[in-house]
Amino acid sequence: MSKTFTVLLVLVAVAPSVLAQSPIFGQCGGENWTGPTTCAVGSACVVQNPFFSQCVPSAVTTPTTTATTTSKTSSSTSTTKSSTTTTKSSTTTTKSTTTTTKSSTTTTTTSAPSGTACTVTAIAQVSSATASCTSIVISNLAVPSSTTLNLSKLKTGTTVTFEGKTTFAFTDWDSDLIDIGGEDITIVGAPGSIIDGNGQAWWDGQGSNGGVTKPDHFITLKSTGTSLLQNLHIQNWPVHCFDITGSSGTTITGLTLDNSAGNAPNAASGGLPAAHNSDGFDVSSTTNLLITSTTVINQDDCVAVTSGSNITVSNMVCDGGHGLSIGSIGGKSNNDVSDVLFTNSVVKNSQNGARIKTNSGTTGTVTNIEWSNIQVSNISIYGIDIQQDYLNGGPTGTPTNGVIINGITMSNITGTAASGAQNYFILCGSGSCSNFDFVNVAITGGSDDSCNFTPTSGNFKCT
Ligand SMILES: *[C@@H]1O[C@H](CO)[C@@H](O)[C@H](O)[C@H]1NC(C)=O
Ligand SMILES: *[C@@H]1O[C@H](CO)[C@@H](O)[C@H](O)[C@H]1NC(C)=O
Ligand SMILES: *[C@@H]1O[C@H](CO)[C@@H](O)[C@H](O)[C@H]1NC(C)=O
Ligand SMILES: *[C@@H]1O[C@H](CO)[C@@H](O)[C@H](O)[C@H]1NC(C)=O
Ligand SMILES: *[C@@H]1O[C@H](CO)[C@@H](O)[C@H](O)[C@H]1NC(C)=O
Repeated sequence: MSKTFTVLLVLVAVAPSVLAQSPIFGQCGGENWTGPTTCAVGSACVVQNPFFSQCVPSAVTTPTTTATTTSKTSSSTSTTKSSTTTTKSSTTTTKSTTTTTKSSTTTTTTSAPSGTACTVTAIAQVSSATASCTSIVISNLAVPSSTTLNLSKLKTGTTVTFEGKTTFAFTDWDSDLIDIGGEDITIVGAPGSIIDGNGQAWWDGQGSNGGVTKPDHFITLKSTGTSLLQNLHIQNWPVHCFDITGSSGTTITGLTLDNSAGNAPNAASGGLPAAHNSDGFDVSSTTNLLITSTTVINQDDCVAVTSGSNITVSNMVCDGGHGLSIGSIGGKSNNDVSDVLFTNSVVKNSQNGARIKTNSGTTGTVTNIEWSNIQVSNISIYGIDIQQDYLNGGPTGTPTNGVIINGITMSNITGTAASGAQNYFILCGSGSCSNFDFVNVAITGGSDDSCNFTPTSGNFKCT
């Protein structure tokens, strides 16, 4: 360890230009980071959060510190004064010491061009921050009523860090509360941070089916390039949580979506859970998406994919909702979904484990979908559900065949349904299901299983 360290130092002293440097917007530090900690000429290493430091163009970090920016930052961090020269030398001489790197880069963060608020503590600062900063900290922001937190046009390569508690005032309107968009963007939650949608102010047991006018989605995401959402803790969203539409190349990891407060009835919900239609992730017209290592506690679909391709959902814990779903498919602007994998996940206390629902009388395609290694427990309606008679407000009971379902794999799906539930329910339209491979599917505890289509291969027995 120390030997390598010495060699590194010598290299730095002898030929600094040869040593690997991170490119502008590249990573240069963070917990467990073993890559370069120096930045390309014209950029400096800025700590975005304990897990991620990034090379930010120096133009953004030229010290022209004003009294206001200095005092703002000094309340949240301990080091504030130092010059660019000090920063540079401290980075070079103490490469392996995270503490020093942190304090040196803190300095850089404080020194945005005058008039530019890269730390957003009031909604009025959002537009200038998104227009000019590639490193934005949303710090204890209280979003006022009739306002969307508009991060929809982030500059390419921007990192947004949520720290402290982000809150939203009530408005009876149907407008998203947070819009996020951009290319190569990184959205992270600082340790201990919470994004609280104040759902209690809207919840009336009716979700998007009636009652108070509500934001249909809490957060919209349209991210491209290579984008990352990490470690966000989100709670109490009004109706659906994420609407991911038109995204590509995005990884979502380490999120907690906790709507458990919406399980209890309230004065307006007539004995029903106060929160309703509270999907965790709604995905449409999206490609190359990975959602992983995420917990969703809610009252509707954990993940619902209605169109798009090459989507992987893994290492999920889904608690209290409607399971890992494809659909409902049909009657929308895009009705084709292919190459979706749900794997290595737990679905508990939920209406369904794995399901596909296609809308009655519509057209579309559902191709090459796999669920594998799913552990279910306390399922209250269907362990596995494939139904082609769906209508919001109640299935018709008569399947239609306009949506073609081809290539469904269920493998190693095990666990328990509650008594009164059905382990399996398959209701295909005439000729519209083909190539089902069900291997090692064993859900027990329910009764009255019903399947009008027998998987083409595997060892599945419906009853
Ligand atoms: C850093 O490594 C430790 C030990 O392997 C691990 O527990 C921790 O989660 C890692 N941190 C990150 C941010 O990956
Ligand atoms: C959000 O901000 C962007 C600029 O960052 C602007 O172009 C867009 O019109 C704003 N959206 C709304 C709904 O105001
Ligand atoms: C599918 O998406 C993953 C990211 O989740 C990506 O790494 C992979 O290259 C994509 N595959 C294709 C065929 O585009
Ligand atoms: C089973 O799940 C339901 C929600 O569907 C929940 O109300 C109930 O408490 C759960 N039962 C157990 C034993 O966890
Ligand atoms: C089956 O899935 C469970 C998770 O539900 C996993 O722990 C187990 O290893 C899987 N078994 C095989 C043979 O892959």
